[in-house]
Amino acid sequence: MKLVLIGDIHLYTLRVPLRRLLSRRAMAHANLLLNRRHHFNHGLLPAVIERARLLKPDHVLFSGDVSTSSLESEFQDFLDHARPLLEAAPCTLVPGNHDRYTFRSRRVRRIETLLGGLLPEGFPHVRALRPGWTLLALDSAVPNRFVSRGALGRAQLRRALEAIGAVPPDQALLVLCHYPCSLPDDVPSPWSRSLKEARALERALAACPGRVVYLHGHIHRPWRAATTEGGAAFECINAGAPCQIGTAWPLGQGFWEINLPDDPQGQLKTRHHALHPGPGHPSGQAVAADASRADGTDPPRAGRGPVEGRWRVGAGP
Ligand SMILES: [Fe+2]
Ligand SMILES: [Fe+2]
Repeated sequence: MKLVLIGDIHLYTLRVPLRRLLSRRAMAHANLLLNRRHHFNHGLLPAVIERARLLKPDHVLFSGDVSTSSLESEFQDFLDHARPLLEAAPCTLVPGNHDRYTFRSRRVRRIETLLGGLLPEGFPHVRALRPGWTLLALDSAVPNRFVSRGALGRAQLRRALEAIGAVPPDQALLVLCHYPCSLPDDVPSPWSRSLKEARALERALAACPGRVVYLHGHIHRPWRAATTEGGAAFECINAGAPCQIGTAWPLGQGFWEINLPDDPQGQLKTRHHALHPGPGHPSGQAVAADASRADGTDPPRAGRGPVEGRWRVGAGP
């Protein structure tokens, strides 16, 4: 079974009415104007979506933070961009903290309303993906006044722990949650940006009778790493931010292809797809990602003009 995992897209809207900035959104917007917009090129997104679609995945997983401050326009922009992929395969999305950024966005259930078909109807969401493989999707996104901390809440955590404990030894559990519950040693974990119940979740996953693969986003850097907790190990895959550009990932951090083996204890084959500067595809056809709009306006998508790249596929960072 082939899965695609896509992380923090963070579409944004530059022109926001003043009245809508009278909330925590003001913090996100200040960060957007001063910082974030210089590190994201959403002109890359069509190429990412098309690449994922061409892989013909059996299921697509979005690990959240598709928006920046939970505006309607940002969710609509996500739907517009992702539509070719959403129409090609079943998709499951868990919210990120930026998708429930303001208290009002939670009160009016904005993401549930606008992306309703992609979010499970309730959390924790448990479903069979294929024989031997179960998906456990968690909702860790809560608005905060000053920090970016996530929380599952007591009821969700209790039911998640029950689901984790119920996995038979010869089966596997795939967890999808925006926040990580365990980090590589070289990644800092500030209290203000972490999941409140991370330790409890990590302990339960390490004690799970079956195999565990934990998929998440939130930290904008892709990786695949094993974690050890109490001698037991499970694997974590961080999605990365496909439109975030920087020195290591000049054309975005790409996305993951994850192939679930028939045998739940078999080898998990992953491939990381990322665009790198180059004259074009191996086929000779260049990817052109032009972020500018036909009418000359920049919001809600931003970018840095046309770029060309070549897809590189590897075992992953
Ligand atoms: Fe996040
Ligand atoms: Fe994020």
